[in-house]
Amino acid sequence: MHKPIKMPFNPDKLKGISKKQITYHFEKHYKGYVKGRNKIEKGLAKGDINRGNKKGETHNASGQVLHETYFSHLGGKGGEPKGNLMKKIKEDFGSFAKWKKRFLACTKAARGWVLLCYDWKDHKLHNYAVDFHDQGAVWSASPILAIDLWEHAYYFDYGPDKSKYIEAFFNNLNWKPIEERFEKYNKK
Ligand SMILES: [Fe+2]
Repeated sequence: MHKPIKMPFNPDKLKGISKKQITYHFEKHYKGYVKGRNKIEKGLAKGDINRGNKKGETHNASGQVLHETYFSHLGGKGGEPKGNLMKKIKEDFGSFAKWKKRFLACTKAARGWVLLCYDWKDHKLHNYAVDFHDQGAVWSASPILAIDLWEHAYYFDYGPDKSKYIEAFFNNLNWKPIEERFEKYNKK
């Protein structure tokens, strides 16, 4: 059984993302994926193996993982990363500004998420665009930063104005858990 995490930030304190928006997202959507994952895994364990369940297995599991990544790094003050992660961004993208420009361009190409991933095989950072929760995965890469671009992440606050939501997301970013994940995965 997978257990949902507790909300790791104060929903009253986000800037530009309302308590109602983030609470719907956390309680209904995120917890729905955890519930869905448990249900499907129970069926699979009983031998109920079919295409629907196998598709649902990765959809719900990835939905859980990516939402937990997303919520882990909200509640901060924005800005830029420090230390080894910043060094690596400069090494792989030229500068933080160049990385962010490319990351933002990816948000127009994705129908689900944009992820900053660390690939432990080529030892590089990559911006990946993901459709749904599980289309676009590279198996040697782990997400360290994730932006949810599903309409359920912003429509209550911004309607179709996705770019305002993306700006708010960056203003609330806490780089610490992102830096910690990078250190954890960056083992050569
Ligand atoms: Fe979501």
